[in-house]
Amino acid sequence: MKDFVTLFGRAPAVLARAPGRVNLIGEHTDYNGGYVLPTAIPQHTEVELAPRSDSKVSVWSGAVTPARVRTYELGAEIPTRDWLDYVQGVTRILASEGHPLKGFDARIVSSVPLGSGLSSSASLTVSLMRALRSAFALQLDDLTLAQIGQRVENEFVGARVGIMDPMAASLADEGTALFLDARSLQYQRVPLPKGADLVVLHSGVVHRHAAGDYNTRRRECEQACTLLGVRQLRDLSSSDLPRISQLPEPLNRRARHVVTEDDRVLAAVEAMRADDLVRLGPLFYASHASMRDDYEVSIPEIDLMVELARAEPTIYGARLTGGGFGGSVVMLAHAGTGYRTAERIAQLYAERSGCSPRVLVPAQ
Ligand code: GLA
Repeated sequence: MKDFVTLFGRAPAVLARAPGRVNLIGEHTDYNGGYVLPTAIPQHTEVELAPRSDSKVSVWSGAVTPARVRTYELGAEIPTRDWLDYVQGVTRILASEGHPLKGFDARIVSSVPLGSGLSSSASLTVSLMRALRSAFALQLDDLTLAQIGQRVENEFVGARVGIMDPMAASLADEGTALFLDARSLQYQRVPLPKGADLVVLHSGVVHRHAAGDYNTRRRECEQACTLLGVRQLRDLSSSDLPRISQLPEPLNRRARHVVTEDDRVLAAVEAMRADDLVRLGPLFYASHASMRDDYEVSIPEIDLMVELARAEPTIYGARLTGGGFGGSVVMLAHAGTGYRTAERIAQLYAERSGCSPRVLVPAQ
């Protein structure tokens, strides 16, 4: 891979990083004003950057092929419908918020696999904003940075994602989960259970065209809100389930997922605080079933992986993580057994699905 000096003929001035994330539980709840529980993973995006004296941006990414330098002028950002839009979106939104930028050269590398449900895009926008913050001394706190990350995707890229991923990239760390109320943006850090290994297994199925399906789910939630006369699904609780079941298909099931998933996040946080893995594990399986049957964002390969995990006596719980339509499964395994069990599940899964899975966590 080309280094910064080879690409730009000088040394970088700053280096910044941001991690990918795995969501433990609380899926498709953030844009409904609900709760999420992500944690940082070791895989991350790294940005080396040097300011220029003009207004040109030159950026190279090793995460895509062919890797080549792309350029544009600040103030002339035009969507190109590829990874450069995350960079262009950052400079566009930062400028619109009054943050003074000059041109820059940047080199991006990432170990977060794209389309894996582990938030490669937020780790890119957040690491780039961190690099720009130190290069240009921007007045930008970590929360604002996450909010701008969401606006980049909503307003420039055209994906109506929620706040979870940039919040996790900006504020989460390994070893604790970020228990976030996506409505108030209040958060607490909850230690991961001591008796378990966190496992993340990539299914080998990359989500494609997922933005369209994602935006459809979001619209369905909005339709459910209109029919139920609430602003957000967060305004409902399990006592509203009889009313929710009266909605037309599939809005009834979409809303039921969101309302029951919020309850599962609260129950999971309690179980984690009590270090009670026997209570935590079944919440993972219940969340998966709800995403598969009610929210319909799983795929057969991911369902197979979850069932293989369920057959392992050392796995407490497993579920699809992230937006869905491919991606990764998150599991909790008895401490000390995670990597070995993940490898066994990966092998059985590869034989039965024909896909190429990868154990991402524990990292080897
Ligand atoms: C994607 C989005 C998040 C969230 C998840 C589903 O990762 O970026 O905002 O909605 O899907 O929980």
